[in-house]
Amino acid sequence: MRTVTVFNGDWLFEGKDEVCLPHTAVELPFSYFDEKVYQREFKYEKIFWMQSEWIGKEISVLFEAVMSNAKVFLNGEFIGGHKDGYTPFEIRLTAHLENGHNKLTVIIDGSENPNIPPFGGRIDYLTFAGIYRDVFLKVTEPLSIGLYKVETLDAMAASKSVAVTIEIDNPRNHNVLGQFYAEITDLSGDVLAEKSLLVDSKEISFILDNLINLDLWDIQNPVLYTLRLRLDTDSGRDTVTTHFGFRTAEFTPDGFFLNGREVKIRGLNRHQSYPYSGYALGKNAQERDAEILKNDLKLNLVRTSHYPQSKWFLDHCDRIGLLVFEEIPGWQHIGEDDWKTETIENVGRMIRRDWNHPSIILWGVRINESNDDDALYAQTNRVAHELDPTRQTAGVRYISESNMLEDVYTMNDFILGDFENGGNRPRTALRSQKEITGLNNSVPYLVTEFNGHMFPTKSTDQEQRQAEHVIRHLEVLDAAYGDDNISGAIGWCAFDYNTHKDFGSGDRICHHGVMDMFREPKFAAYAYASQCEPSDEIILKPVTFWARGERNIGGVLPLIVLTNCEEIELQYGDHKPKMIKPDRERFPNLPNAPVIIDRRHFSEDELGLWGMKWEDAVFTGYIDGKPAIEQRFTSEPVPTVLEVKADMAEIDLKSVVRVIVRVLDQAGNKLPFFPEPVTIDVSGAGRRIGPRVVPLRAGSTGFWVQSEDNGLIKLSVSHDRLGTVDQKIQVRLGVDNEPS
Ligand code: GAL
Repeated sequence: MRTVTVFNGDWLFEGKDEVCLPHTAVELPFSYFDEKVYQREFKYEKIFWMQSEWIGKEISVLFEAVMSNAKVFLNGEFIGGHKDGYTPFEIRLTAHLENGHNKLTVIIDGSENPNIPPFGGRIDYLTFAGIYRDVFLKVTEPLSIGLYKVETLDAMAASKSVAVTIEIDNPRNHNVLGQFYAEITDLSGDVLAEKSLLVDSKEISFILDNLINLDLWDIQNPVLYTLRLRLDTDSGRDTVTTHFGFRTAEFTPDGFFLNGREVKIRGLNRHQSYPYSGYALGKNAQERDAEILKNDLKLNLVRTSHYPQSKWFLDHCDRIGLLVFEEIPGWQHIGEDDWKTETIENVGRMIRRDWNHPSIILWGVRINESNDDDALYAQTNRVAHELDPTRQTAGVRYISESNMLEDVYTMNDFILGDFENGGNRPRTALRSQKEITGLNNSVPYLVTEFNGHMFPTKSTDQEQRQAEHVIRHLEVLDAAYGDDNISGAIGWCAFDYNTHKDFGSGDRICHHGVMDMFREPKFAAYAYASQCEPSDEIILKPVTFWARGERNIGGVLPLIVLTNCEEIELQYGDHKPKMIKPDRERFPNLPNAPVIIDRRHFSEDELGLWGMKWEDAVFTGYIDGKPAIEQRFTSEPVPTVLEVKADMAEIDLKSVVRVIVRVLDQAGNKLPFFPEPVTIDVSGAGRRIGPRVVPLRAGSTGFWVQSEDNGLIKLSVSHDRLGTVDQKIQVRLGVDNEPS
């Protein structure tokens, strides 16, 4: 029998601290730190005991990812390593185990080793050192199931089939002989197909066919099936399961088609980093990010800029129906020959790890924004196509007329912003694909970044700037929706992120997100969210703090209301309410254009001038002629409510949960310029990640809590004026993260 157990607990870090994985080598402040603090070697050690039931079995350790250049030793002997910081590796212990206790040592190197991608140049993100993903101990029979690939053939046909390829792991070179059994089940466990065959070679391929009445995996209804594989040999039984889905995904010159239906890509780029803990937040945080992207931002795709991300994240994208464009590690710089070899290897590692995810629709096989290197990219494309003929490749560049070696021309189009930067053309949201590719014919084409550094915007920035931030995201989305030759657009980026001194605002943060580092939305988040159908969620977000004197010259006009309602009513004080429709003239192509309230709708006298009384307001969104949603603003906000919201009321042992703290006014709106500190105390079965006393930024802050024992975690957040809010989080008894 195979057992895969969590191997995260009881590691000795740097010879002194007992730590649990995932772990960041250096916990960092929120901002203004020296990123070199983690750029050195660190040591992790773990003692474990040889078990009698391991005799005759194969024992290995699975590292989901280690940053970076891991070297692994057992009882002082070097037994393997892995340079890349983003892909998993397995180290065989079997031949080196001793009776009694054994010591596993992992030396990692947080320095930016120029021989390892993405390093060698300057990169706009941080690569926080640590064993930052989970580690598992795997015990199998000498003959076991190794890599397995599930390909869905003719997904659109009434009668579907699944092609399965399996490699047998046979480190002792035994005679391969056994019986193999495969079974497909649906989520309720009903068996839909099965197959049994004799195995006498290292590789097995077979097809399960005549599968009828099956559902497609789609972004609305992401139906997954389970494939269970079993190998019976003389030495025993091995079983694995994986999930998969039936879907077709194709980028064409006329757009992107999912299951034959055109879907305009509306996405954002995601860095996998968090405040304080860098890369080292586990399953819950990874899954939560996928939910935020899908459910809060209403995106249909995420780009894993600029590296393979956690399997917890990708598994969840499969479950919730969020498309993924997955990337290899790299940023602008291409290194020497060994570096290039690692890059080609990285393509293979990424694809072999992730080829069974229905959510992944595109492999990135170019170093993000590098120059053409035909020899290198011919190889990365070849490897991708050989390993996975079912998916297209992409190569993200910022240069035009680059050699198109990939299936999809993917472009970071930062043209919007050029107009104020000495550019010689009028304000332009996106260039046409022909201008970029220089080709006479149309090709599959996708915009993979826009905005970002062209218009960094903090959640504490002036309302006027945030309104312009919103407009720029809307303009690019509108242009993408309006151009049949563009498959869609992926904005830079979802969340603010810590970065090197050479980028960002000097505070070691790139404030490029539509959400801050705690994943609290800026106004621009609603440029995306408001594009969903009202049946999904009714969105109404006036882009204002509702104050007379926040903008230059005063007032709140022009006022953008991000919404999917048909019409908006604005009631200002006791004045006669006005009904205003979405601005289709300015945004003809968006699924839902914003309402823009300006002097066409209110005279200056009506809204009042500088020096006149400022009044309350009510915005009401109408659907089918009826009021459907409302937001109220008070003209005299004072701190009224200290809100403390945990993402989950119950968590597993050794996992994390995010908690958001907000200070709200009488109408329930955040106080955008409230800088006062809150004190966060965590006791009982968990610990707080990050500092105890933190300022509010734009009316909110966040933190993560890690469960350490069974029982209750007690949170208490206090503020001088608003008192203390107590909350409890239950840690589920004895449940630990298991691999899927
Ligand atoms: C791009 C780059 C991203 C990020 C972005 C900021 O050039 O690919 O990683 O730096 O600029 O706008």
